[in-house]
Amino acid sequence: MNYTFILNMARNLTENERDFIANCANLSSLIFNNIEDLNWAGFYLLKGNKLILGPFQGQTATTSIEIGKGVCGAAARDRSTHLIPDVHKFPGHIACDLASNSEIVIPLIKDGRLIGVLDIDSPKLDRFTNEDQINLEKVVEILLENSEI
Ligand code: SME
Repeated sequence: MNYTFILNMARNLTENERDFIANCANLSSLIFNNIEDLNWAGFYLLKGNKLILGPFQGQTATTSIEIGKGVCGAAARDRSTHLIPDVHKFPGHIACDLASNSEIVIPLIKDGRLIGVLDIDSPKLDRFTNEDQINLEKVVEILLENSEI
């Protein structure tokens, strides 16, 4: 996996753009098109007490997730990355795309505030590694640093 390229591209795409939604849109495309074996990559953004579908790439998805529900809601509630090797073993997993078998969800937290989550799905079981987690958390850091929220 070429995370040097992905991190450089993430910086290039966002360094001259402060709009959060525009940056989420480009980063979902960057991830989806440059990381192997993905079927969905995108953002859910906190509105009120729910996560609402934001910019993404992949099949259509559920538009609203309660905090604590599904992998996204659990990562938002716990404010920690959730790396799920087999989504079918995760109680309450919300199946948007039936092709998904593993998933990683990274919370977006700026100055102690929960902004939303980055959700990435794979049709492969046990697709995501610690290396993916570390580098995807860096992509989120770049997004939050370079965007007005
Ligand atoms: N699987 C997620 C729901 C969102 S879709 O994967 C795009 C979950 O359990 O929260």
